[in-house]
Order: sequence, then structure tokens, then C-alpha cells
Amino acid sequence: MTKNGAAIINGKAYAASLRERIKAEVPKFQEQTGRAPGLAVVLVGDDAASQVYVASKHKATIAAGMESFEHRLPADTKQEDLIALVEKLNADEAVDGILVQLPLPGHLDEKAVVMAIDPDKDVDGLHVINAGRLANGEEALTPCTPLGSLMLLKDQLGDLSGLNAVVVGRSILVGKPMAQLLLRENCTVTMAHSRTRDLPDVVRRADIVVAAVGRAEMVKGDWLKDGAVVIDVGINRLAPEAGKEKGRLVGDVATAEAMDHVRAITPVPGGVGPMTIAVLLRNTLVAASMRAGLVKPEGF
Ligand code: GUN
Repeated sequence: MTKNGAAIINGKAYAASLRERIKAEVPKFQEQTGRAPGLAVVLVGDDAASQVYVASKHKATIAAGMESFEHRLPADTKQEDLIALVEKLNADEAVDGILVQLPLPGHLDEKAVVMAIDPDKDVDGLHVINAGRLANGEEALTPCTPLGSLMLLKDQLGDLSGLNAVVVGRSILVGKPMAQLLLRENCTVTMAHSRTRDLPDVVRRADIVVAAVGRAEMVKGDWLKDGAVVIDVGINRLAPEAGKEKGRLVGDVATAEAMDHVRAITPVPGGVGPMTIAVLLRNTLVAASMRAGLVKPEGF
């Protein structure tokens, strides 16, 4: 709690406890199948941020007791060679989840690569089959960031039924699946985006705000209804201040201003970010259980 009574949502702590709960499920899976769940991560090229993400995913996968298969390919990898690797992983019984780190180098067709992944191994939830299953209210592998955001919201608010939720941003990775998840929880969902008229007024109606636009501190404090719960998905680096090498990391919400209005808000960093990898492990465990014909693990 701050002096204004607003809570900072500790995504780092929630993610750590989720990773522990997953780790406790792995031996049960192993007992029934004789093997650990396996996650394959494919990285093409040497994008610095992607290298860091992939290394973190590998470390977290091993720490949860799962098998990690890393495939690093050169930046000039041909489309057909990448697709051939995905198909090999689709056929590999030891692999339950496949994640191709995005963005891919410009000459590669991301959509075609994602579509080559077996939907039942698509732990990123990006295949149209999984997007369609989610939209139809069926069991689906769901993108990690929105599912992690939903977990934090339910932890704060319990039942979300009937609440007004505004999702700012309509990406396939976050905005669209987030809106579907909130609808599934019986929220009244508004999707706002760059062309939305009177965006501050739209956001002011929201009990729940999810900001996922990728624009530094775009959502201002006085756009927020008193008592709103805010999930800030943005990670933007500001220009460095004088004498500093790197600029500060900020979200899509002006957090300091927001604190005067909200009931709770995720910080940047340390809010939604840590949830993404924890949910990736959750999706891998779920994919593994479904593929092995086991009951879906409870409580995730
Ligand atoms: N790059 C940044 N975030 C993600 C993600 O969630 N999945 C994949 N595959 N690539 C990413």
C-alpha cells in the first residue's frame, strides 16, 4: 500500500509462487508418463533482447524440472529450413511445447512459421486454431502475457463478473486474447486502440484497464476511475537522462499519477513481465498433460 492506499501488484512474487506450483506438478506428470514435460525454444539470429528472453526461458524451464531444448539458428536461415525444424519438433514425442522467439529476421514469414506449429504444442497460443478455440470459449492454449495478466486481476479482484474492462491495444499477442479472456470472465469488454475517439473518456468508465499499446506513459492518471485496477503491459525505454547510458524503463501508464486514483496497479518492471515465463511453463505443463491424455492440472 502507498500513502494513497493504492496497491502495487507484485507480479514477481506471484510468478515465483506459480513457478513453484508448476514445479510441484512435474513429478506427478513424470510418474505417470516416465518423462518430464519438454519445451523447445527456437531462436533465429542474434537480436540482443531475444537472446536475453531465450536464456531466461531456458533457466526457468530447467528450474521447474522440465526438459529444455534450445535451437539457435543463424540470422540467414532459410524459411524452408526453419519450417523443417518446426515439423521435426512437431513429430518429436519428447517435445510438448514449441516456441519460436519473435520477431524473426525480416526475410522470414512469421505467420507461416507459427502456422506450421502443431496447435497442441503451440504454447504461445498464437496459432489461429488456438485463437479460434479461445474465441469460441473452448479449451485453448492461450498467449502467456494476457493469461498472466488475468491471473493477477483475479488475484486482486476475485470474481470479475459484470465489471467494465477496457483493453487499450489490439495486438494478436496481447490485446485480442486479453479481451477474449475478460469476456470469458463475464466482464463487459471494450477494445480501444489508436483510432478510438475520446480515449480518456472510454478509459474513465473502466473498473479494469489493460494497457498494451507500446507507447510510454500514454495513459494518464486523470484518465482513470477512482478504484480502478490497472494492468500495464507496456515496456518502453525512455531516452537517457544527462550523464546516463540507458534510459528508464516505463510502461504504457503514467504510474506515479495513476497511484492517486487506482486501487491497484502493476509496476514496470516487476509486474506483468515476470508472469510471461511462468505462464509459458504453465502452458507447457498443460500441453504435456493434454497430449498424454491426463486430466488437466488443477488450479492454474
Ligand atoms: N517476443 C516477445 N514476446 C514474445 C512472446 O510472448 N512469444 C514469442 N514467441 N516471442 C516473443
